[in-house]
Amino acid sequence: VLNPPLQDRKDILEILCNGLARQEYRGYDSAGLGIDGDSPGEIIYFKEVGKVAGLRKRIAESDVNTTKVFASQVSIAHTRWATHGPPSTVNCHPIRSGLNNEFLIVHNGIVTNAAALRQVLQNRGYKFESETDTEAVAILTKYVYDSQPDKRITFPSLVKTVLKELEGSFAFVFKSIHYPNEIVTARRGSPLLIGVKTDKKLKVDFVDVEISGPDDGKAVDGFVSTAPNSRLAPPAPKISRRQSRNFMSEDGMPQPIEFFVASDAAAIVEHTKRVLYLEDDDIAHISDGQLHIHRLRKNEIGQAETPATRSIETLEIEIAAIMKGKFDHFMQKEIYEQPESVVNTMRGRVIFDDYRITLGGLRSYLPIIRRGRRIVFCACGTSYHSALATQAMFEELTEIPVSVELASDFLDRKTPIFRDDVCVFVSQSGETADTILALRYCLERGALCVGIVNTVGSTISRETHCGIHINAGPEVGVASTKAYTSQYVALVLMALQLSEDRISFTPRRRAIIDGLRELPGQIKRVLELDGSLREFANTVLANQRSLLLMGRGYQHATCLEGALKIKEIAYMHSEGILAGELKHGPLALIDENMPVIIVMTQDSLYPKVQSAFAQITARKAQPIVICNEGDDGIRKGVKTIRVPKTVDVLQGLLNIIPLQLLSYHLAVKNGFDVDCPRNLAKSVTTE
Ligand code: G6P
Repeated sequence: VLNPPLQDRKDILEILCNGLARQEYRGYDSAGLGIDGDSPGEIIYFKEVGKVAGLRKRIAESDVNTTKVFASQVSIAHTRWATHGPPSTVNCHPIRSGLNNEFLIVHNGIVTNAAALRQVLQNRGYKFESETDTEAVAILTKYVYDSQPDKRITFPSLVKTVLKELEGSFAFVFKSIHYPNEIVTARRGSPLLIGVKTDKKLKVDFVDVEISGPDDGKAVDGFVSTAPNSRLAPPAPKISRRQSRNFMSEDGMPQPIEFFVASDAAAIVEHTKRVLYLEDDDIAHISDGQLHIHRLRKNEIGQAETPATRSIETLEIEIAAIMKGKFDHFMQKEIYEQPESVVNTMRGRVIFDDYRITLGGLRSYLPIIRRGRRIVFCACGTSYHSALATQAMFEELTEIPVSVELASDFLDRKTPIFRDDVCVFVSQSGETADTILALRYCLERGALCVGIVNTVGSTISRETHCGIHINAGPEVGVASTKAYTSQYVALVLMALQLSEDRISFTPRRRAIIDGLRELPGQIKRVLELDGSLREFANTVLANQRSLLLMGRGYQHATCLEGALKIKEIAYMHSEGILAGELKHGPLALIDENMPVIIVMTQDSLYPKVQSAFAQITARKAQPIVICNEGDDGIRKGVKTIRVPKTVDVLQGLLNIIPLQLLSYHLAVKNGFDVDCPRNLAKSVTTE
C-alpha cells in the first residue's frame, strides 16, 4: 500500500514481482497480481502459470501503461502452491468475485468449508469460474456487500462478516473497487506480517488492537455461522480499550508511508526492516496512511487473552542473506554456509574453555524440563529427522524417556499428553501447520512447550513457552540443509544444558563440547569432497532409478534425511534403512544392480554395520561407504566417501553433508529445478 510518495506503475509492478520472487520458495505453481487501473473503479490483473519470471514476461508483453503516476495505490500479488485445483491461469490468484472484479483477494491456506459456501452461493445464482476454495470467499464477500441495503458497510466490517463464516486456515488480502486506496488483511493459522516504511524515523513502536470499529456479530443471512471448531482454532482474542496509534510525525501530520503485507519477511526486507506480526483472528485495515487492527470476535469470559498491542519489531535479516551471491542455487549456497551457520547457532551460547552452555531462551524453564516425566519431540520432514538424530543423546544425557513424533501422525493418534510432559516442536519456518496444531494440542493439555525454530517472530516461536532460535539465517532452498545441521546443534546444546548438573556426565559432556569446537573446521573439510561427490552423481549413480541408504544408531537419521534429500530434489526413489532391520525385508532388494550407500563411521555400532556390509556384498551389492578418514578396515576397491571423525553424537552432522551434496549434483545433472522441486513448497501452512 503506497500512500504517497508518488510511484510509477512500473515501480509498483517491480516491487510486486520482486516481492513474489523472494517468496517464491513458498510456492511456485503460478503467480499473479492486481493493481489499480487507469480510471477509478478499475482493477487490472495479470496471472500466469509457472514461476514469477513468466508473470514478468506477461506484463512486459502487455499494453499496460507502466508510466502512469499515482498519488496512492493498493496492489496485491500472490505466488501459489496448488492445493485446491491444479495450477492454471484461472485458479491462480488474485481470485475475483465476478466478471467486473469488484473484489480481488489473495489467500494462503485452505478454507475447509468452501464447498458448502460454494453450494449456497451457487443456489443464489452466483457463478464460479475456478476450482479454488478461495473463490467461495471472494464471492461471499460480494454477496455480503450486495446484501447491504445502503452499501455503507466499511471494508473491515465487511471482511469481518465474511471471515466469521470461514473454517480452516488463512492469510487473506482483500482489495476492492468499492474501497479505493484501502486494503484489509487477516489471518488465522497462516503467517502474515506488515512492514512499515517511512522517510522519517518511525516513532511508533506498537499498534493498539482496537475495540473501535464496526462490530456486526451477525451471521450472514442464509449461512450457518461456524463455531471456531477448526483444528486451527486460534487463541482467544483480547479487545483493548485503548485507541490505536496512527502513523503521525511529531507535528501531528500524517507522514508519507508505505505498508507491505507479506507471508514472510524475505518479501519486504529490501524496503523496510520494521514489521509487526499479526495474531490469529486479527483483521488489519490500511487506509489513508493509517493502520488499524481489529479482532474478529470479542473476548469471551474464560478465554485466554492475546496481547492488546502488536509491537513493531526491527528485523535482523540482511538482504545479502536472501540472495544467491556467487552460487548457482540457494541450496548450494546454504550447504556451503554450514561452517558459519553452525557457529551462529553456538554463538554466545557455548563457552568452550569453561565447558559451559547458556541457552537464554530456556533458562527459567530448565528445572521444569528436568523434572518432566518424558520429552516428546514433534516435527515434520527434515526437522523430524534432526530430532531423531539427537534422540539417543537426549536419552543418554537426560535419562528421561524421549519419543520423536511426526506431527501429523501424533495428531491422528490423539496421543495422550499430560501436564508433566515436555513437548519440543522443531521447525525451520515455525509455520508448518501440522506442527502448529500439535503445539496447540499440547498447550491445551498443559504440557510445557519448547520451540526449536529458525524464523524469528514465527507462530511456533511466539506460541511456545520457551525455546531456542537456531540462528541459521534465512533458508530459501526448499530442501532443508543448513537448518538441519543447526537444529541438530541446537538440540545437542539443549541436551548438554539439561545434563549440566550431573557430575557423572562431565567427561562425556566435555568430549561433546570439544567436538563442537572442531565442528566448523571439519565441515569445511567435508565440503572439499564436493568434486568427488559430483563424480559419483555423474557416473555410478547416474541414471539409477533407486538408491538405498543404510546405517544404524545415530546414523539411521542420517540415512532417512539423505534419502529425503534425494527424493525431494533428484526425484529418485530413495530409502533410508535401519541396518538392524536388513534381514527383516530390505535384504530381498539387494543384488548386483541395486545402488547402496552404507554409513559406516566408527562408533560403538561399527562392527554391526560391518556385518551389514558383509551381508550385502555377499549378495553382490557394490556399496559406496561413508567412513572415517584413516579407517583402514575397508578393503581395497570399495568406493568410499571419507569424512573426519568426531564424537559419535556429532558424527551425523558431518555424514549428512556428502548426502546433501550428492542429492544436489544428481538434481543438477538431470536439469531439475534444485531450489523449487516440483509439487513441493518450503513452508507447508496447510494440513
Ligand atoms: C516442508 C519442507 C521441508 C521441511 C518440512 C518441515 O516439507 O519442504 O524442507 O523439512 O516442510 O518444515 P519446518 O519449517 O517445520 O521445518
